[in-house]
Amino acid sequence: MTTRKIVFSGIQPTGDFHIGNYIGAVKRWVAEQDLYDNIFCIVDLHAITLYQDPNVLRGKIRQAAAVLLACGIDPQKSLLFVQSHVPAHAELAWILNCVTPIGWLERMTQYKDKSAKLESVSTGLLDYPVLMAADILLYQADCVPVGEDQKQHIELTRDVAQRFNTLYGETFVLPEGTIPKVGARIMGFDDPTVKMSKSIASDQKHHAVGLLDSPDQVWAVLKRATTDSGKEIVFSNEPGKAGVNNLLTVYQVLTGQTQTEIEKHFQGKLYGQLKREVADVIIETLKPIQERYNALMQDPNALDGILQRAAEQAATRAAPTLRKAKLNVGFVV
Ligand code: TYM
Repeated sequence: MTTRKIVFSGIQPTGDFHIGNYIGAVKRWVAEQDLYDNIFCIVDLHAITLYQDPNVLRGKIRQAAAVLLACGIDPQKSLLFVQSHVPAHAELAWILNCVTPIGWLERMTQYKDKSAKLESVSTGLLDYPVLMAADILLYQADCVPVGEDQKQHIELTRDVAQRFNTLYGETFVLPEGTIPKVGARIMGFDDPTVKMSKSIASDQKHHAVGLLDSPDQVWAVLKRATTDSGKEIVFSNEPGKAGVNNLLTVYQVLTGQTQTEIEKHFQGKLYGQLKREVADVIIETLKPIQERYNALMQDPNALDGILQRAAEQAATRAAPTLRKAKLNVGFVV
């Protein structure tokens, strides 16, 4: 019997999920559900590394679950649960803290970017990647499908696992990050030099398209999308073409067409037409997701039930690895 590879991935329930999250991560989670043994986690412990209004966070956690189910995560095929419902994540994170040199964490680019903007930096923010390592290692995951921004964190996870295994004996599988070839880094529509992000989107109206945005909202963002003063609609790595390249990348992932087909399709057309067509494929993609989302939100008890059952199963699956880690460090278990 061949056992399926274990996939683990996570998403923070902060802000609204945007088309970058969908393209870089969620779309692939859904598409590859039949191939793997899937575990997906709404990482609320990570969310509070930056202050969150408690009532808003509570709403966002449920919303995150409904959006992921609406995108096509199938509870019959995948575990979808909330991180804080499974205490093993925090427990293992503590153990891993004790083998992780601070210098490794201080070098993380996301930490450097986020902490540079803060007056007071929490210990949790620095420790964020260790908790992420715990998430992944608890389930002995083989693959971690993420966008490019998480690559460094996955490498750190491997380093932490390796160090633990060396110090205490073979305990953890070393996971591989799987980054998509196209769409690993969707850029802001208002500024194609920065990665599309939930935090910028909450301050700047025309930065991102949220998965729950109405057709009018989608078009309001797309029609203002930054392009350039030229008129060629081609894929290009030239910094000056970053806006057009980003629009074409979104179009490519959502239509499944090849770059050659797309360039041919847009040959001789104007940027206004490109923006309209990208908006239309986004709207078409979001329509069924939003319909399912609205239906799911009618029944919060059913939603809570799905999360509850998945958390129980996740806890059962996490227990042997946590026990092994505890045994190996010398605890009496
Ligand atoms: P988060 O919540 O920032 O993002 C969720 C997923 O979306 C991807 N992503 C993008 N992909 C393409 N273009 C973009 N502009 C873009 N923005 C975000 C992210 O790469 C991610 O895959 N630290 C993680 C959550 C996490 C996790 C884990 C992930 C916690 N534990 C364990 C994997 C395994 C995060 O903040 O993702």
